[in-house]
Amino acid sequence: MAWHCNGVTNQEMVAKLKSAGIIGSDKAEDAMLAIDRGKYCHESDPYLDKPRKIGYNVTISAPHMHAYALTMMTEQLSRKGAHALDVGSGSGYLTACMAHMVGSGGLVVGLEHIPELVEDSRKNVELDRPDLVQDGRIKFVVGDGRLGHEADGPYDAIHVGAAADSLPETLVSQLAPGGRLLCPVVAIQGFQRYQDFVQVDKNPNGSITTKKLMQVMYVPLTDAKAQLANLN
Ligand SMILES: C[S@@+](CC[C@H](N)C(=O)[O-])C[C@H]1O[C@@H](n2cnc3c(N)ncnc32)[C@H](O)[C@@H]1O
Repeated sequence: MAWHCNGVTNQEMVAKLKSAGIIGSDKAEDAMLAIDRGKYCHESDPYLDKPRKIGYNVTISAPHMHAYALTMMTEQLSRKGAHALDVGSGSGYLTACMAHMVGSGGLVVGLEHIPELVEDSRKNVELDRPDLVQDGRIKFVVGDGRLGHEADGPYDAIHVGAAADSLPETLVSQLAPGGRLLCPVVAIQGFQRYQDFVQVDKNPNGSITTKKLMQVMYVPLTDAKAQLANLN
């Protein structure tokens, strides 16, 4: 999908995402206005609508993907006292937006397997929105995202920021009834290899409804050794 919602400021970027129809809820818009992408992306021109390097062979995802994911999780993140999990939390930007949306009394866990990135994300949030750390609604954990983080589940919303080889059943099992998981999943058709952005809803009776939303391009959900090989 070709979206080009470049801004010179955070506000301009958000306004373009909104007029393009990618931000589809007031709460997602409010979160993206309240959390300044420039405090999480330390390259020049942080408000360009593209992924940017954050070190360790990975990127902060493009604003249009953050906007889309927040829009698709709005209902789940708006529940009173919602618990949410951000797998592959990287820069901490999306975790902070999710934490803004759950409000005080909610909890968002950012789960990331590179300890240095967890440290960076903590610093980013401390500088941008120390209140989110102080009131205990955001927490960053070092760990393998493929295993989830059972201790703070079940979750109303789980976002996965890296592409899994197949639907991560362990994460599906950590969804609360009525919860939603968004995850890029690798798909292979003949010689073609692509990724679907998959939405998984756990129905109130525990059954699962799966929907492919669109094709995307994410870094792999993998082990740290593979990610850091040939570090550039
Ligand atoms: C495209 S980046 C997105 C980061 C974040 N959503 C953001 O926008 O800053 C994907 C992240 O997933 C992390 N990752 C990859 N495999 C992982 C795994 N098995 N467990 C936890 N994190 C993982 C990477 O280190 C990276 O930070």
